[in-house]
Amino acid sequence: MIGFLNQGRQALISAAQRTIYEHTGPAAVPPAVLWRAPAENDADFEARIERARSKLPAQRLLLAVCGRQTSAPREGVRWVQLPPRLLALLNPRQPARYRVAYGGRGSAKSWSFARGLIVRTLERPTRVLCARELQGSIRESVHRLLSDQIGQLELQPWFEIQQTVILGANNSEFIFEGVRSNPTKIKSMEGINIVWCEEAERFSAASWEILIPTVRKAGSEILVTFNPDLETDPTYQRFVTSPPPGALVDFVIWKDNPWFPAELDAERQYLERVDPDAAAWIWGGQCRAASDAQIFRGKFVVEAFEPVTHTSANGEKPWSGPYAGADWGFSQDPTVLIRCWISERTLYIEHEAYAVGVDIDKTSALFDRVPGARNMVIRADNARPETISYMQRHGYPRVSAVEKWTGSVEDGIAHIRQYERVVLHPRCTHTIEEFRLYSYKVDQLSGDVLPDVVDAHNHAIDALRYALQPMIRRINTGILDYYRQELARQRGEVAQSGPAAQTAQSAPKKAPLAPPVVRTEII
Ligand SMILES: Nc1ncnc2c1ncn2[C@@H]1O[C@H](COP(=O)(O)OP(=O)(O)O)[C@@H](O)[C@H]1O
Ligand SMILES: [Mg+2]
Repeated sequence: MIGFLNQGRQALISAAQRTIYEHTGPAAVPPAVLWRAPAENDADFEARIERARSKLPAQRLLLAVCGRQTSAPREGVRWVQLPPRLLALLNPRQPARYRVAYGGRGSAKSWSFARGLIVRTLERPTRVLCARELQGSIRESVHRLLSDQIGQLELQPWFEIQQTVILGANNSEFIFEGVRSNPTKIKSMEGINIVWCEEAERFSAASWEILIPTVRKAGSEILVTFNPDLETDPTYQRFVTSPPPGALVDFVIWKDNPWFPAELDAERQYLERVDPDAAAWIWGGQCRAASDAQIFRGKFVVEAFEPVTHTSANGEKPWSGPYAGADWGFSQDPTVLIRCWISERTLYIEHEAYAVGVDIDKTSALFDRVPGARNMVIRADNARPETISYMQRHGYPRVSAVEKWTGSVEDGIAHIRQYERVVLHPRCTHTIEEFRLYSYKVDQLSGDVLPDVVDAHNHAIDALRYALQPMIRRINTGILDYYRQELARQRGEVAQSGPAAQTAQSAPKKAPLAPPVVRTEII
């Protein structure tokens, strides 16, 4: 009798849902969701899908969230695949206040968290705050990543993608905010169910202090994804060194990603070859050691910005630029295009195109990733005249060769160090890495930092130097000042981060100097 009543009730619900579909379209009823449990075998999961499917009205979609698709595509079931480790981490059937994935690049962290969150907002009305340390504009947020994933999973009927928010048809909502850019707004936010901190390695201790109390609703969650940088970073300390009780924390690298793409693998193999330590950090997810040998240590910040191209409301004058520079990849080296700006004493690096092992006929397409590249003067490495003429004939008429001279690398470094600030846009990930890794040689026995520059991690930096070349020649600080400054720095006689001019003045008068450089010699 009860079974009969239940059947009748089920039939009634199905009939009601069918009617809703017919009158309002699919958006009124979000898909049903099944998460594959960590220990569940294929047959059990299949059976669950089968049972759920038979209870749902034909039009209602079923999302099967799983590590991999286990059976042939079928009507009414859409597979949402995540790497198994991240699936276990994100599965809401295991409650957790914190879900943290950290590790190397290419381990599917961003994609998986985006997918996991999209599914969860479909399951029930959920307010998600996508937080970053700094967010200059919506373009710096995960808005694009989420919209792309909604598109890939063909879930557009249930979302309205607006310019600054993503709204779910069931009243779910994704909002995007920078914690440091907008602390008051963050503090006053109500009703957040989930906050996702992507690229959280940049979060300061102060930002965590602001953010965590904001997420105070019962059952609310804090999701964190990051690629570790220094072991002393607040995020690493908070979630890896001493994780909060009950936090789900997992370490993942590219090997955990069944869809690790070939282009990324080419980059990974390249770095393994030229610098295993750097590869251990970037791809292996290990922490990086801060070192005195770092050439640009303390000299740059990673911050989102929009170039000022017209006198702004607050009176800021238009920036000079953009300036573009290109470095050609030989065989397996990266090919790079950089676009930068100068305002007063600040150098802004706005865009990069960077790829390893790019054939000549693919270079135009690579450069097209930098907005406006085809119309810009691009100053390029003169070592490959045939590439320059090829580019001139293939959509890049304004590419030209720049001169190099003995000491031009050191002059470039001195020039870059002279800016009060060097601001790198967060999307310029490879340039940021090079700024971190570009180093002086270190004496193997004594550990002393030597004035020679290691010939690695210099592709974006070379491109930047070419972009800035007219300014480098004009500014009359030579290599001599630079060596003075370096010698003084090595002897601990001046603060490391002091401006170049001050450092040079306070350098000892009789410091033994490197041989003077003949600046007119062209290599
Ligand atoms: N579920 C997936 N299905 C297909 N490809 C995926 C999936 N997850 C990740 N990928 C591929 O792996 C790449 C790296 O993933 P991403 O999330 O950007 O890694 P991370 O954030 O760890 O650096 C993506 O650009 C995509 O090509
Ligand atoms: Mg990522």
